Amino acid sequence: MTTQKKIASEAPKMGGDSLPLQKKHHNVFIFTSILFIFSFFLVLLIFLSSQRSLNFLSSPSIDPDLFSLTTTTAITTTNTTVSPPPSSLSPPPPIPSTESIPPPESTPAELIETADGPIEKNENVGFVNGSIPDNGAGQEEVERVEISGKNCNLFMGKWIKDDGYPVYQPGSCPFVDEAYDCQSNGRPDFEYLKWRWKPDGCDLPRFNATDFLVRIRGKRLLLVGDSMNRNQFESMLCLLREGLPDKNKMYEVHGYKITKGRGFYIFKFVDFNCTIEYVRSHFLVKEGTRVNGQGNSNPTLSIDKVDKTAKRWKQADILVFNTGHWWTHGKTSRGKSYFREGDYVYPKFDAVEAYRKALKTWGDWIDKNLNPDRQLVFYRAYSNAHFRGGDWDSGGSCNGETEPILSGSFLDGYPLKMKIVEDVIQHMKVPVILLNVTRLTNFRKDGHPSVYGKMRIKGMKVSTRKQDCSHWCLPGVPDAWNELIYATLVYQQRTASSISQIQ
Ligand SMILES: *[C@@H]1O[C@H](CO)[C@@H](O)[C@H](O)[C@H]1NC(C)=O
Ligand SMILES: *[C@@H]1O[C@H](CO)[C@@H](O)[C@H](O)[C@H]1NC(C)=O
Ligand SMILES: *[C@@H]1O[C@H](CO)[C@@H](O)[C@H](O)[C@H]1NC(C)=O
Ligand SMILES: *[C@@H]1O[C@H](CO)[C@@H](O)[C@H](O)[C@H]1NC(C)=O
Ligand SMILES: *[C@@H]1O[C@H](CO)[C@@H](O)[C@H](O)[C@H]1NC(C)=O
Repeated sequence: MTTQKKIASEAPKMGGDSLPLQKKHHNVFIFTSILFIFSFFLVLLIFLSSQRSLNFLSSPSIDPDLFSLTTTTAITTTNTTVSPPPSSLSPPPPIPSTESIPPPESTPAELIETADGPIEKNENVGFVNGSIPDNGAGQEEVERVEISGKNCNLFMGKWIKDDGYPVYQPGSCPFVDEAYDCQSNGRPDFEYLKWRWKPDGCDLPRFNATDFLVRIRGKRLLLVGDSMNRNQFESMLCLLREGLPDKNKMYEVHGYKITKGRGFYIFKFVDFNCTIEYVRSHFLVKEGTRVNGQGNSNPTLSIDKVDKTAKRWKQADILVFNTGHWWTHGKTSRGKSYFREGDYVYPKFDAVEAYRKALKTWGDWIDKNLNPDRQLVFYRAYSNAHFRGGDWDSGGSCNGETEPILSGSFLDGYPLKMKIVEDVIQHMKVPVILLNVTRLTNFRKDGHPSVYGKMRIKGMKVSTRKQDCSHWCLPGVPDAWNELIYATLVYQQRTASSISQIQ
C-alpha cells in the first residue's frame, strides 16, 4: 500500500516538471509515457505482492525469530574441509563403525510399510508482539527453515532418563503391529522405554496429546514413505490416542487392521474431526515393471515421475515424508536395468545419482502442487540401523543391547543421502521442515526390536538368526520424532486455523 502511495505521488510530479517545456504535440507522447511508467510500477507491485504470498514465513502468525532462517552452511560441504569429530577419550562403541559412514540402510524383509507423528500446546506463545517484520518480499534466495525454539537446535542434544516416559504403556496401544510390539513379544528389559530426547539448549514442550489434536482439528495429517514411516505412523496413533478420554473414538475408516501387507490407512479422530493417514511409497517416485527379452517382467523405478500415490498427497494439510532405506543395492537390482527415465531403462545407473534425481522429482512436484500457505511439509531424516557383525540379511545382530551409545564417532554419522536431501530442500520454493533425527537415532542401539519382532511361542527358543535392527520398538524412538513435530507446531504457533488459512 505504501508503494502504491509513492507511485501515485511520483507520477504527477514527473508530469508537472516536464509539461511546461514541451510543445503541444508532444503532450500526447508525454502522457502515454507517464501512463506506461505507471503501469510498469503497477505490474511490479502486483508481482511483488504475489511473491510475498508465496512466502510461507511471512505469514503474520509466525515470529521469524523462532526458527533461525539461516542459509545453512555446512550443507553442501563439497570442498569445505570437514573438521574431524573431537577425539573422544571413551572407548569406541560396540557397533560396526564404518568410520562416520553409517551402515547401509538395512531393510529387514518387513521394511515394507507405514508410520506417523504428533503436536503440542499453546504454552504461552507470547513471542509475537505485534509488528510483522518485513523479511524482504520477493527475495530470491530460498532460505531454509530450521526449526528451533528460539536459538535452540532441537536436533543436537542427548537422551536423558525420565520416569514420566513412555507416553503410552507398552502393550496398551492396539495400533502397534506385532513387529514393533517388543514387550508383548517377550522383551525382558524396560530401561529403553524411559529415555526422553533433550536438546542441548532447551527442553521440548511436554507432549500434550489433547493440545496436538486441538491444533490439527479438521485437518488431515499424512505420513508418506517406507516402513520406517509406518513405524512413525503407529507411534503417532498411539501418542494421540492418549488424548482421548474415550479411546473408542478413533477408528480406521475402512476397518483395516495395520499389517505390513497393506499400504494405505486413514484413522479418524471423531471428536476432533481430524485424520492421521499413511500411504506407502518406498521411493517417493514411481515403481513399475518392464518385460525383458525373455518375457520376464522386472521391476523398474522411474526417477523422473513421482509415485502414483501423489494424488493423495495433495489432499493432506500436514505431510511427513521419508525415503532412504530402499535405496540399496539389494532392493534396486544393483542398479542394473532398473532406473528409468521416460521409456529409457538405464543398463546401469548409480544409485546415489538416482536418489538425487528422484528427490529432485519429488521436490519439483511439491513446488508445483502444494500450497505453502495451506500445507505444512516435513521431511523426516534418515533413521539409522545398528547391526553388529553383518547386515540385516547376513546375520547382523543387536540383541542384548539395553543401553544407548553414549559417545564415540558413530554418533556423528550422517549419510550422504541426507546431504542430498538437504541440498534438494534448499533449492525448493515450498519450505520443507527437515526433522533432522539422524543423530538422535544414532544413539539408540537399544531401541530396535532385535529378536522381539515376533510373538514368542511359549517354550520355543528365540531364533537369533534374523534380527530387526532397523525399525524401532513402540513405545520408543519414533515417539520422539513425533514429539518434534509437536514442538514445531508449538514453536511456530501452528493452530488448526493457521495450518490452512488462505491468506
Ligand atoms: C571450492 O573449490 C573451488 C575449486 O576448487 C574453489 O574455487 C572454491 O573457492 C572452493 N570453495 C570453498 C568454499 O572452499
Ligand atoms: C517487542 O518486544 C520486545 C521485548 O519485549 C521489545 O524490545 C520490542 O520493542 C517490541 N517490539 C515492538 C514492535 O513492540
Ligand atoms: C493439554 O492441552 C489441553 C488443551 O490445550 C489443556 O487444556 C491442558 O491443560 C493441557 N495439559 C497439560 C498437562 O498441560
Ligand atoms: C470436518 O473437517 C472437514 C475438513 O477436513 C470439513 O470439511 C468439515 O466441515 C468438518 N466437519 C465438522 C463437523 O466440523
Ligand atoms: C542435521 O544433523 C546433522 C548431524 O547429525 C548435521 O551434520 C547437519 O548439519 C544437520 N542438518 C541441518 C540442516 O541442520
